Amino acid sequence: MKKYIVYGLNYEDEARELGSLVNAEVLNVKHKIFPDGERYLRIEHAEKLSNSVAIVVNTMFPNQNDSLVETLMLINAARKANASKVIAVIPYLAYARQDKVFLSGEPVSAELVVKSLRMSGADVLITVDVHSPAILEHFDGIAVNLLVSRELVEKALEYLENPVVIAPDKGALERARYAAENLGLEYDYLVKHRDRETGIVKIEPKEASVSGRDVVIVDDIISTGGTIAEASKLLLSIGARKIVVAATHGLLVGSALDKLRKAGVYRVLLANTVGVKYEDPLVEYVDILRVIADKLGSIIEKQEK
Ligand code: R5P
Repeated sequence: MKKYIVYGLNYEDEARELGSLVNAEVLNVKHKIFPDGERYLRIEHAEKLSNSVAIVVNTMFPNQNDSLVETLMLINAARKANASKVIAVIPYLAYARQDKVFLSGEPVSAELVVKSLRMSGADVLITVDVHSPAILEHFDGIAVNLLVSRELVEKALEYLENPVVIAPDKGALERARYAAENLGLEYDYLVKHRDRETGIVKIEPKEASVSGRDVVIVDDIISTGGTIAEASKLLLSIGARKIVVAATHGLLVGSALDKLRKAGVYRVLLANTVGVKYEDPLVEYVDILRVIADKLGSIIEKQEK
C-alpha cells in the first residue's frame, strides 16, 4: 500500500526526514489564517491518499493550542480524503501532565487531547515519552509510547565516569530504569513535591549513593527547569561530581537554561521531539527519528498483512 506523510508547521523538517526513513512521499499542506483568526489548511494532491496510509506528523510545542487544532484538522482532512489508515505521529503531546483531577474542578486535559485525536479519525497514535503512559488507554485504537531514554543516556555516557542514573521523582523512574537496565547501569530516584497552587518544587534527599560519582538525571520534560535545578543542587550537595541531564522534551521556557547553569549542570541532552531548538553551549540534541521510523515501519507492515 502507498504511504504518504502530511506534516504540521512545528515539525516540517523532521516530517520530511521521517518520510525518507520510511520511504513515504511527503504531501505539502497549504495554510492560511482567516481574517477572524480561524485556521484553514488543505493537503495538496489529497487524491493520492485514497486507499493509502496517511501518516500525519506534528508536535505540540510550541503553540500548543494552535498545533493541537492543526493536528486534528490534518487527521480529519486525511480521513475525508479516504485514506485507508491514518497514523498520527506526535512526539510531544501537549497537556499530558494534566493526567488527573489533582484539585477538584479541574479537567483531565490529557484524556481530552488523546480522545480528540481518535475522534478526528486517527487509527494509530505514536508518541514519544508521554508524561503518563496510562493516558493512552483513552485512545480507542493502537497507541504506542516510545521511550528514548536509552539513546539519551548512551550519549551522556560520553561525558561521565562511574555514572549512576537518577530520576528526579518517582514518576520518572520507569524511563530511568529502562535506560539503566539497557545500558547495565545503577539507578535510583529522588522524592519530589510540587505545590499545586504555586508550582514550586521541593526535592528531598534519598539514600542514593552518588558521593564521588557522576550522575545522569533522566526526565521527560524540562519546562521552567525548576525540577532539574533543584535535583542537581541536591545531588551536588551530597557529593555528586558531575551532572548531565538526559531529558526527552526540552521546552526550556523563560530562564530555564540559566537556572540549570546556575545549579551546576554540566550538559543538557535533549531529543528532537519539539519544534524549537536552542543554540546554547549547555545543550545538545540527540536525533531520535530513527526510533520513530522503526516503529512506524513495523506498524505499517502489520497493517498491510
Ligand atoms: C513532572 O512531573 C515532569 O515529569 C517534569 O519533571 C516537569 O514537568 C518539569 O517541569 P519544570 O522544568 O517546570 O520543573
